[in-house]
Amino acid sequence: MNYDQIFDQAIERLHSEGRYRVFIDILRNKGAFPNARCFAGHNGPKPITVWCSNDYLAMGQHPKVVAAMEEALHDVGAGSGGTRNIGGNTHYHIELERELADLHGKEAALLFTSGYVSNDATLSTLAKLLPGCVIFSDALNHASMIAGIRNSGCEKKVWRHNDVEHLEALLAETDPSVPKLIAFESVYSMDGDVAPIHAICDLADKYNAITYIDEVHAVGMYGKRGGGISERDEAADRIHIIEGTLGKAFGVMGGYIAADQRIIDCVRSYAPGFIFTTSLSPVLVAGVLASVKHLKASSEEREGQQRAAASLKAMFRDAGLPVMDSVTHIVPLMVGDPVKAKKISDILLAEYGAYVQPINFPTVPRGTERLRFTPGPAHTEAMMRELTQALVEIWDRLEMRQAA
Ligand SMILES: Cc1ncc(COP(=O)(O)O)c(C=O)c1O
Repeated sequence: MNYDQIFDQAIERLHSEGRYRVFIDILRNKGAFPNARCFAGHNGPKPITVWCSNDYLAMGQHPKVVAAMEEALHDVGAGSGGTRNIGGNTHYHIELERELADLHGKEAALLFTSGYVSNDATLSTLAKLLPGCVIFSDALNHASMIAGIRNSGCEKKVWRHNDVEHLEALLAETDPSVPKLIAFESVYSMDGDVAPIHAICDLADKYNAITYIDEVHAVGMYGKRGGGISERDEAADRIHIIEGTLGKAFGVMGGYIAADQRIIDCVRSYAPGFIFTTSLSPVLVAGVLASVKHLKASSEEREGQQRAAASLKAMFRDAGLPVMDSVTHIVPLMVGDPVKAKKISDILLAEYGAYVQPINFPTVPRGTERLRFTPGPAHTEAMMRELTQALVEIWDRLEMRQAA
């Protein structure tokens, strides 16, 4: 058995399909978002503008967040020192869970080390607890939800993306007596579209299913207090479990669910992904706490982000660039080819100092490779004009106008 050869072939497949991943080496400049330094090339760090950060509202650099983390570090030190059950349950964790439960109008919340882990741990645990459960999963659900569903060992029925008629057909053909769980996202992060939450909840009521929503790309950014699309659409009380991340709009790291006390108690007590791991550093939790509190009270960042997204979409559209339909802050430009997407991204970085990562399979289906821009409150009109001009020049250089 030649192990080296097998691994080499696996890597070669990625190269030949144009989807070998290159991680860009950057340092962000605190207080100057979205400016950063890039360490590619040989001429020392070069200034760049970041267009693909999921620190959507620049909260990772917010003075309140940074100060809270510094204070926590100096007060209690770096790590939590244990699992939640054995020494790692700090007062910061308890306070943040209270804030998150309140954010979503739920009885309780539970922290995890990432959004990925929260989806995997919660879905696999809850579905296992429901005898004979059938899970109804939107076709574009995130890999972490798919992992949780697979790990539950339950039967899964996939409904066409955002197609409630198809969801109903699948619910209707299922034994009325078995437990049912409907899992979906609010904002789909690669296309920027939004789930019809009320229509899905109507079906959940009709077929007696419980509902699970991933609000990873919405918390902090939608709703009056940043409770997500479920807050904006006044649907939070119709959803059993709301899941979110602390690493995107809240700017730090971690994940969570919010639900009624009974559900939280079950996940807390049965989920290996919660039980058998060191809890989040109190430093991180303190930062998130400051971020969540700030975004509950301030809409300035949310409004700035929406304005920036609308401007960039309009500039791309006016310039004849193939901007995809998105009703959210996400601005995807369709390329449809992994090699070209990488090439555009490379030219943007090397020649224009603009950093946007190409998005390839398996994150998006093959043939829909794209560039995904996430303008935020700190991206200026001048930056957007420069970026649009650069893209037009590249599109012309690569003779992609027809494709556009
Ligand atoms: C829809 C969705 N859910 C969950 C996650 C995982 O969140 P985290 O990055 O906090 O692990 C992501 C991550 O990128 C995501 O896009």
